[in-house]
Amino acid sequence: MKTTVGVGLLGCGTVGSNVADRLQRERDIIERRSGVRYELRAIAIQDSLKRRSSALERRLFTRDARSVVDDPHVDLVIEVIGGTTDAAELVERALERGRHVVTANKDLLGEQGPRLQALAASRRAALRFEGAVAGAIPIVRTLGEALAGDEILSVAGVVNGTCTAILSAMEEGAGFDESLARAQRLGYAEADPGNDVEGVDAAHKIAVIAQLAFGLAVISPRIARTGISSVTQRDVARARMLGFRIRHVAAVLRTPDGVLAEVAPVLVAESHEFARTADAENVVQVVARDAGRLILRGIGAGGAATASAVLGDVVTVLHALGQGRGFDLRGRSNSLETASRTEPFFDRLSRTVELPNYAIWDDALTNVSMQALVNA
Ligand SMILES: NC(=O)c1ccc[n+]([C@@H]2O[C@H](COP(=O)([O-])OP(=O)(O)OC[C@H]3O[C@@H](n4cnc5c(N)ncnc54)[C@H](OP(=O)(O)O)[C@@H]3O)[C@@H](O)[C@H]2O)c1
Repeated sequence: MKTTVGVGLLGCGTVGSNVADRLQRERDIIERRSGVRYELRAIAIQDSLKRRSSALERRLFTRDARSVVDDPHVDLVIEVIGGTTDAAELVERALERGRHVVTANKDLLGEQGPRLQALAASRRAALRFEGAVAGAIPIVRTLGEALAGDEILSVAGVVNGTCTAILSAMEEGAGFDESLARAQRLGYAEADPGNDVEGVDAAHKIAVIAQLAFGLAVISPRIARTGISSVTQRDVARARMLGFRIRHVAAVLRTPDGVLAEVAPVLVAESHEFARTADAENVVQVVARDAGRLILRGIGAGGAATASAVLGDVVTVLHALGQGRGFDLRGRSNSLETASRTEPFFDRLSRTVELPNYAIWDDALTNVSMQALVNA
């Protein structure tokens, strides 16, 4: 049983600065909720000249991220660097040393989640990643914990705020480039929006969802994806005239024949939950055999919202360490099956003659799979 848990933070940018600030300013609340004391021992950054929050002592900062991971007094590593180069090496190094890891890194989990889960399990270390999918929406916990006693049949949603921000601006009459520039100005799109507009980000998220929902070693490069860069203002306007909105939808579905997954811009009826999204808002629909249809909606990105998810994981790990509990029970994602093939399925959806490039989203597909499984 731990009396004081050492915490090391990797990254202090949009998400990390919010996490660091709250770890320092809200210590009383976090310690009360987790039942354990903690010490923020170090914060790894890249640029030592950048201005940082006044709540963070200068002595905490280091440019040597490895030293944070290697510090024997660090029990919990929070990784909010991002990407799959330095962050991958550091997370792997931390898990190998038996450190518990909390991360918001969807690229890493989408591409290497199954391998990292196996590594964490072999070291009896926690690997938690609520912040990696849909920002503040607790979808990881919902799939991995709340629905652990049910059979998940499908998960679908609008999980990339950059795409939604661009598509919703295009509904106001702007072209793609102008809408992208607006999204960047408002902080909904990064300076390099490639991963978002080409569907890579959504593919990472749906891969993580498939790992959690179906216990499959699905990785994002295996998921069929189409981005929104070829969506025109004319398409968006025509869709509105037909009673639809174009939304970038990510979906994964279990059928008796296997797992279907795809990410693409589709036509969504204006009254549908997916259509009623704007800017960074995400919406995720889960269909489970016994729980039925669940809708989760909320802020899908941003420093504070993502830090909320990260800190939820931090409290969970602190609490478990305080109780002297291990991390060998992890539900469906504990031992991912290797059958990782997924097939695209949006071509099974119907289309209109006016906009033949877009499938029309239809919840009936998830119902059909539900019926098939229930009757099997
Ligand atoms: N931003 C969001 O809305 C959001 C939402 C959900 C999930 N996420 C995920 O959260 C993670 C962090 O995103 P972010 O937006 O906070 O990124 P960010 O603003 O670019 O911050 C990255 C941080 O990592 C530091 N860093 C980069 N390379 C490093 C290295 N080799 N060693 C030590 N520190 C290094 C940077 O240092 P400097 O400060 O010195 O530059 C910076 O503090 C990513 O995985 C992202 O996908 C972000």
